[in-house]
Amino acid sequence: MADRSFAGKVALVTGAGSGIGRATAVTFAAAGARVIIADVNVAGGEETLGTIRASGGDAMFVPTDVSEANAVVALIERTVGTYGRLDCAFNNAGINLELVPTEEWDEAVFERTWSVNTKGMMLCMKYEIRQMLKQGGGAIVNTASVEGLKSIPGDPGYGSSKHAVIGLTRVAALQYAKRGIRINAVCPGAVRTALTKPAIAIMGEEGLAGFHPIGRIAEPEEIAAAVLWLCSDGASFVVGHPLSVDGGLAAQ
Ligand SMILES: NC(=O)c1ccc[n+]([C@@H]2O[C@H](COP(=O)([O-])OP(=O)(O)OC[C@H]3O[C@@H](n4cnc5c(N)ncnc54)[C@H](O)[C@@H]3O)[C@@H](O)[C@H]2O)c1
Repeated sequence: MADRSFAGKVALVTGAGSGIGRATAVTFAAAGARVIIADVNVAGGEETLGTIRASGGDAMFVPTDVSEANAVVALIERTVGTYGRLDCAFNNAGINLELVPTEEWDEAVFERTWSVNTKGMMLCMKYEIRQMLKQGGGAIVNTASVEGLKSIPGDPGYGSSKHAVIGLTRVAALQYAKRGIRINAVCPGAVRTALTKPAIAIMGEEGLAGFHPIGRIAEPEEIAAAVLWLCSDGASFVVGHPLSVDGGLAAQ
């Protein structure tokens, strides 16, 4: 029998127009949740919406740039206006613009990366938490990365932004632990999405897989499964945790 463990719940997914976010939105919908797809990419968001509706799921797409406060406010207003509440939020939108060493660090790239990956996550949490406090609880998962747990040669703006995601997850988690809001992070290794295409172009999929003790990269659905678990009652005592879903990469 199909898993309907999120029936009646309302789940918001940012960056749901592609990759990990799309897989998570589709998985939430398959488990019975009403899903809000948020993404700056309109074509991608509409494709995810079409996939969910074609399977009989309930979803809406709200074009959103998570780095813009007004857009995030409007996103939460549309969510609550349409579905009445917000039970689960997966703050996942992220960018990795270029792979450069520190001596080639570019100020504009750094600022854009932090604006989306870190400030965007903070903006989403701010307005999600306001709604969750009104209704008496909820669960939030933020997408960090294995690059938030350890240093991996790559863009310093991206790696530092993902360390910050874990920091802001822990701070907020402790602030709301007694008020019914559980906040955690997920730390993927390499996943087969658009974001990994440049790395695969440089080192090939086998090269990227070789970094992972499990000997392969992940499919987006493997990250989605971890996100749904963190949002579920099964994770009721999990608070402020950066969960590695990385084929053993961070364990090395
Ligand atoms: N793919 C990996 O190997 C990997 C590993 C670790 C962490 N991550 C993280 O996972 C998350 C999802 O990445 P992905 O791999 O699915 O990549 P992806 O490029 O397939 O998806 C990212 C989505 O975020 C959206 N987005 C970008 N900027 C946005 C903004 N300002 N507002 C709203 N949406 C925006 C994009 O349009 C895209 O649809 C990111 O935070 C990324 O850093 C990915």
